[in-house]
Amino acid sequence: MTALRKPEVIGVITAGGDAPGMNAAIRAVVRAALSHGLEVIGIRRGYRGVYEKDFFVMNSRHVSGIINLGGTILKSVRFPEFQRPEVRWQAARNLQEAKIDALVVIGGDGSCRGALALSETSGFPVVTIPASIDNDIAGTDITVGFDTAVNTAVEAIDRIRDTATSHDRTFVIEVMGRHCGNLALAVGLACGAEIVLIPERPSNEEAIFQEVESADRKGKESVLIILAEGAGRAAELTEVLSRRFPDKEVRYAVLGYVQRGGRPCSASRNLATRLGVKAVEGLLAGKTCHLVAWVKGAVTFVPLSEVVQGKPKVSLEYLDLVKLLSI
Ligand code: F6P
Repeated sequence: MTALRKPEVIGVITAGGDAPGMNAAIRAVVRAALSHGLEVIGIRRGYRGVYEKDFFVMNSRHVSGIINLGGTILKSVRFPEFQRPEVRWQAARNLQEAKIDALVVIGGDGSCRGALALSETSGFPVVTIPASIDNDIAGTDITVGFDTAVNTAVEAIDRIRDTATSHDRTFVIEVMGRHCGNLALAVGLACGAEIVLIPERPSNEEAIFQEVESADRKGKESVLIILAEGAGRAAELTEVLSRRFPDKEVRYAVLGYVQRGGRPCSASRNLATRLGVKAVEGLLAGKTCHLVAWVKGAVTFVPLSEVVQGKPKVSLEYLDLVKLLSI
């Protein structure tokens, strides 16, 4: 459909679950593009906005004062209809009619799939910026928003530790992450948790009982179990533990959406900024169908075909550290 030529007008969307730092990425994309003499069209509500033509021209002032804001000023939705080729064709036609030459998609794994599908269906040039609190995108070491979500969860769990220690309690704390354990691992290590349960290393009840008993034997005043949402439900595990250890006070907390919101930390902002600028430079250099990734401390481009087929890197070594240090 669209020939691969140097873009003069780019569109930008945020798609999927919001992540802290998305606004910093929008700001970087808009201002880098304007600095290079491009026109920028903001598209509201992700792929649905592309389909419904929710377009507006962006200038530098649209992104003033947003680097420190959580959420996304462009708004976001999950739009499963985008899996239908006719919806993607219509979206590509809308982009062309609006004279948009290329699209920057800021979002997670599903958004990368959407971008690849759009490009494969219509040939429309796209690059994606990885943004998700889950850190579950193959091809990049880290996603925008992950560091902030870890910090948010750690702050909440530090408070829970106070209660756990004061009351000699065992706490099961469920964190997000969808099917991936990276958030639970990073949070568990940073909180000094006794046990971390993740979907990539399924554990059985007996093994968990033994770990709780072992913490008891070591004289621990409190036990924190960090449970990735992909590995089970905190309420259910709490019930199982209470039945097995009737003399223990077992409580649970589900951190939920508090992990997704809030001010992005400096690491998330700076990552978003570097990836956002590079996304524009990539499009200007003729890149399409690539993820702008962070690999081994540098920005790089990874083909979206590899991203959607790959598996995210999971910090399994953190599990060993948690075990080693919870003596
Ligand atoms: O991908 C981010 C995330 O917050 C996951 O951790 C969680 O499983 C999911 O989104 C929740 O999705 P929704 O916002 O659609 O409820």
